[in-house]
Amino acid sequence: MTPKTIETTPYADQKPGTSGLRKRVTVYSQPNYVENYIQAIFDSLEGFAGKTLVIGGDGRFYNDVAIQKAIRIAAANGFGKVLVGQGGILSTPAASHVIRHYKAFGGLVLSASHNPGGPEGDFGIKYNIGNGGPAPEKITDAVFARTKVITSYKTLETDDIDLDAIGTQRVGDMVVEVIDPVADYADLMQTLFDFDAIRGLFAGGFRMTFDAMNAVTGPFAHAIIEGLLGAPKGTVVNGTPSPTFNDGHPDPNLVYCKDMHDLLMTPEGPDFGAASDGDGDRNLIIGKNRFVTPSDSLALLAANAHLAPGYKAGIAGIARSMPTSAAADRVAEKLGIEMHETPTGWKFFGNLLDAGRVTICGEESAGTGSNHVREKDGLWAVLLWLNILAVRKQSVDEIVREHWKTYGRNYYTRHDYEEVDAGIANTLMQELRAKLPSLPGKVFEDDLQVAYADDFTYHDPVDGSTSSMQGVRIGFADGSRIVLRLSGTGTVGATLRVYLERYEAADGRHDLDTQLALEPLIGIAEQLAGIKARTGRTEPSVIT
Ligand code: G1P
Ligand code: ZN
Repeated sequence: MTPKTIETTPYADQKPGTSGLRKRVTVYSQPNYVENYIQAIFDSLEGFAGKTLVIGGDGRFYNDVAIQKAIRIAAANGFGKVLVGQGGILSTPAASHVIRHYKAFGGLVLSASHNPGGPEGDFGIKYNIGNGGPAPEKITDAVFARTKVITSYKTLETDDIDLDAIGTQRVGDMVVEVIDPVADYADLMQTLFDFDAIRGLFAGGFRMTFDAMNAVTGPFAHAIIEGLLGAPKGTVVNGTPSPTFNDGHPDPNLVYCKDMHDLLMTPEGPDFGAASDGDGDRNLIIGKNRFVTPSDSLALLAANAHLAPGYKAGIAGIARSMPTSAAADRVAEKLGIEMHETPTGWKFFGNLLDAGRVTICGEESAGTGSNHVREKDGLWAVLLWLNILAVRKQSVDEIVREHWKTYGRNYYTRHDYEEVDAGIANTLMQELRAKLPSLPGKVFEDDLQVAYADDFTYHDPVDGSTSSMQGVRIGFADGSRIVLRLSGTGTVGATLRVYLERYEAADGRHDLDTQLALEPLIGIAEQLAGIKARTGRTEPSVIT
């Protein structure tokens, strides 16, 4: 079987976004669209001949088609081995672990995360490097440049590769090994958390519900939560992965997990509710009568991580994406450890984690993780919460309230305006940027004085690289903040994200309704950016 070189013509729109190349399945199904992109990735890498590539996806519609193409192209380009999850499945954190554990050269993660799936839904391809994390901008920029000039790709002519049977086979000169997607990941979790203590929690009658959202974490949650941890059958709901997520939207937030949220707010409801997204890297945490915002969850996990065996020596530092609330900063200050503010997207945490400067990272978009892999990890966050609950023997609500009494509360919300006309969104951002120099010193709503206004630029302290235009920040003297940026993961039009935050001191009021507490800032954001007037929208599409 000799590799064949097939002529192709470039596509102009293969620019990787916040997390890989995400497009509608209809876009991905165009002739050679997948082939061009994967060949462009391989053309941008050096030194992989004979090495191992990990491939796995979240099982969404088109995963099975793309994975066959990917394996053939990998074989024709000279990889020595492909490690693939059974059925083509690996959650994003499990893929990151497999890359690290087997010291692979890198990996292809096939997913569009929390975006809907199906023939009319989204698909995505992301390249991860040997540390298990998303490729840095240096590589994604090179891939984009290559997609614009590509003229051919290499592949093999083979029958479809059987991805259902665990074991080893050959494709041309390359070995394909199909592995159990759950086993290595479950082993890793047992090195980090006190499974006996969590088993004791369930044995004592603690009740939980985990919504796998018909997506990739189903088999992982069944094996770990109901299997190893002994939670009763039925604890995991929507646990069978479906290529269309049963026509659902696998984004674990209060919109798409409203039923679970409402259940947790009733006296008969369980003690703890959690969910994960399409590819298993996001998490939602709700205690009885207490939703935990992702920004608070990051701060709480960092403050309590030492209660889990994997972190008992303490954590080296914390990193959060810029729009994430500053709640974690107060924990880092108290612990006397490093704190880093990075642009949106997990790829910016990789260097800090590799350099040992931070142990725990998080984003306001429901992503938390640690140095155990180089992706955010939904089940990891759930297990760390369970470990903390088992040790502290308090409810989620009690733990959250105690935290605020110690550190103060950062009221926080995000308003998303989805599928806005891209031209309107870009003009809005440009005109807002132009206003920034005039804002410092101005006073809004009687007492909110602007302390700074800029477009965030990140200087990576590890490799010295600079990333500019990462989101407009308007900071006020009392620590309040408005952030606006355009999403880099949407596939239709533009999504405008408005992030709002206000700090209330440890002895202040912690029981206000979040939207009411942030009302003055919501008004200022509107006044400065004119979102409603420009977009014609009367309210955000999603509030988290
Ligand atoms: C969104 C989130 C970001 C996250 C990314 C991938 O990106 O905001 O925090 O890393 O999804 O899950 P955005 O659409 O805002 O560019
Ligand atoms: Zn995801």
